[in-house]
Amino acid sequence: MTVPTSFDSNNPVTDHEMPDAVLREQLQSSLCIREMTIDDLAEVFHIGETVFTAEYSPSLYRTWDEYEVTSMFNTDSQLCLVAESAGRTVGFALGTTVEKQHSAWKYGYLVWLGVCPRSQKLQVGERLFREMKRRMKAQGVRMIIIDTSADNHAAIHFFSKLGFDHPQEHVYMTLNLATPKKKRRKKKKNAGKK
Ligand SMILES: CC(C)(COP(=O)(O)OP(=O)(O)OC[C@H]1O[C@@H](n2cnc3c(N)ncnc32)[C@H](O)[C@@H]1OP(=O)(O)O)[C@@H](O)C(=O)NCCC(=O)NCCS
Repeated sequence: MTVPTSFDSNNPVTDHEMPDAVLREQLQSSLCIREMTIDDLAEVFHIGETVFTAEYSPSLYRTWDEYEVTSMFNTDSQLCLVAESAGRTVGFALGTTVEKQHSAWKYGYLVWLGVCPRSQKLQVGERLFREMKRRMKAQGVRMIIIDTSADNHAAIHFFSKLGFDHPQEHVYMTLNLATPKKKRRKKKKNAGKK
């Protein structure tokens, strides 16, 4: 399926003007988790823009952009879910499965999970995750993996509550190719003198 790769940035991101109590009641009575369709792509992208801001960057190889949403949708649309309440999209979860060469296990990778700021802490994320887990299990997944930055305490608490454990830290190093090698060596030498 071919999907659009750029979205209208004037699309509104849902629930801003509604009082908290009304929003909460609406979420409790009408929240539904369903598979994402092509019509949801723009809204999912815009919700992601509000939660995966410049500060949210677990790694450089994965950045929130239009391509990320469309490629995940093209890869495994059954593991692309949205949370909808009263006709409005309030969150999404995008996952995929991974099979490793020397392992009999199939892994589920929950790549992105986002809930509109105003709809957070109202069990939307948990409902999305539970449906993702059910679908992954049905596809033969034996272990689910997530990753997030070490300082995303909210997400770490969220996933711990859902049963995730053994957090492991990765180290990212950089090599700036824009700086000439000679200069780099000199810099290193000078740094060693201090
Ligand atoms: C992480 C996130 C998806 C959680 O979604 P949510 O709908 O707000 O979470 P829920 O209401 O389902 O919370 C379930 C449990 O997680 C924990 N939790 C959720 N948000 C939390 C927060 N901000 N701080 C601490 N714990 C939190 C709570 O224990 C909560 O259970 P409780 O309400 O019974 O105490 C949401 O905060 C979000 O979109 N964050 C920004 C994007 C992100 O970091 N995504 C995760 C990595 S891809």
